[in-house]
Amino acid sequence: MDQGDKKRQVAKAAAALIEPGIRLGVGTGSTVNHFIEELGPWRGRIEAVVASSRETERRLRTAGFEVADLADTGDLDLYVDGADEANKHFHLIKGGGGALTREKILAAASRRFVCIIDDSKWVAVLGRFPLPLEVIPMAQSYVSRQMVRSRGLPVLRKGFVTDNGNAIIDVHNLSITNPPDVEARFNQIAGVVTVGIFAQRPADVILVAEDGGVKRLDRR
Ligand code: A5P
Repeated sequence: MDQGDKKRQVAKAAAALIEPGIRLGVGTGSTVNHFIEELGPWRGRIEAVVASSRETERRLRTAGFEVADLADTGDLDLYVDGADEANKHFHLIKGGGGALTREKILAAASRRFVCIIDDSKWVAVLGRFPLPLEVIPMAQSYVSRQMVRSRGLPVLRKGFVTDNGNAIIDVHNLSITNPPDVEARFNQIAGVVTVGIFAQRPADVILVAEDGGVKRLDRR
């Protein structure tokens, strides 16, 4: 099975977790795009849909959904999103698509966070995928210097502006053996808006697409 088929399968498995009347958060990325394609039968049967990026909002509207604002819906029942890396503690790296800040807000505001990945994203230690940081533009160089002090190799994502008007620095070379600690530490650096480590609010369920089918992992 190729990666595209795996993404499609895991998206289908996540759509099977939707129940009538829920408030649903929708992440960002190629795996989630397949999930959006699976949402058709739910049109008019869920209470609210909230998007984690402008791109997801556009796709949801094209699929015939009215997209609500988190400020109006209150907490969500279910948040479905992909990841760039995941480990056995349900810690994630996210932000390859640059939508990490709104993704982290939706994950925090959701009762259940279901992460959908193919098996290429499964790692023993986070950090092979460069860690995205959303930063206030004037803090780019300052934050980069702090990353060098942490033995990282910061690379500015050229020509990229987030939905919030900020920059992304991708930090290479990190081996993140204690994700909650690194998330908290990097969050404290002046100018950092969001760290792409999702460990303080990890996934609750990870669906992993493998050659043999989709495996479900539940935290606790
Ligand atoms: C978007 O900012 C990311 O957090 C995505 O969830 C992540 O990059 C996974 O994307 P794919 O589903 O395209 O691999």
